[in-house]
Amino acid sequence: MHLALLAVGVGPGDEVITTAHTFIATAEAISLTGASPVFVDIDPLTYNIDPGRVEEAITPRTKAIVPVHLYGQPAELEPLRDIATSHGLWLIEDAAQAHASEYFGKRCGSIGDLACFSFYPGKNLGAYGDAGAVTGNDEALLERVRKLRDHGRTTKYEHEEIGYPERIDALQAAILGAKLPHLEQWTQARRAHARLYNELLSGAGITTPFESPNVRHVYHLYVIRTAHRDRMLEHLHSKGIGAGIHYPIPLHRQPAYLKQGYGDVRLPITEQIASEVISLPMYPELSREQIEYVAQAVNEVIR
Ligand SMILES: Cc1ncc(COP(=O)(O)O)c(C=O)c1O
Repeated sequence: MHLALLAVGVGPGDEVITTAHTFIATAEAISLTGASPVFVDIDPLTYNIDPGRVEEAITPRTKAIVPVHLYGQPAELEPLRDIATSHGLWLIEDAAQAHASEYFGKRCGSIGDLACFSFYPGKNLGAYGDAGAVTGNDEALLERVRKLRDHGRTTKYEHEEIGYPERIDALQAAILGAKLPHLEQWTQARRAHARLYNELLSGAGITTPFESPNVRHVYHLYVIRTAHRDRMLEHLHSKGIGAGIHYPIPLHRQPAYLKQGYGDVRLPITEQIASEVISLPMYPELSREQIEYVAQAVNEVIR
């Protein structure tokens, strides 16, 4: 994401519109370029950036929009593309959680001007250490990313600009190459697990994930919402279930951003959602029995 933003020319004094309901890396990459993230609220159904709130956040300093395909559900790329085009902004997808997801039948990672994937070990396609990739269709932009990631190098010892040591390392690339052919089957397994969870958690008191009919959600995380989160987490943990919260503190409330003057930012939907979400176990190898065990524990709290 750092390289993608640099490649499109984002830098000091610029603003980049994004969501606060994400992992901090989304905004961190913006801050690392010297630009400022501008957080807008999310859609209460998808938990992704609300395109209806983006236009009012645009200023003369805005350079780009960074939607996150959170939990594996594609953001509303079409309206975002329209806004980006009409205001001359770059659209950069944070696809860290969305390998093999689709928006109107097109793969995420191929729709924005550039897109960024994480291969952190816990991701849908994970390396055995840190790794990531930038994708896109514009060869000139990709060439810039290639140069920046590798010390600004044009030949072995010729450096056209100041770049970065931000390459994927060869061992991680080899591991990813071996795992990539399995991604489709793993994605189908995640989607099947989500359907089973949906079936078993259909009672009152729980909000199961919304899946827009126009997308292929790849369920990096299976996230439910409940007003009884503390009790729910305690019960799940007492039964040995590894439930988590993604993410408990919205970015505008993080000490790192409060220090930068974000204290007055108000994002009511983000704040509400962040206080209610719980991620249930989700990975391809889950068995039917394990999902039933988790669902039963969830339903016990609701009852
Ligand atoms: C939405 C999102 N963006 C960015 C990142 C950053 O990826 P990495 O840890 O590979 O830098 C992550 C995960 O770590 C993420 O979940």
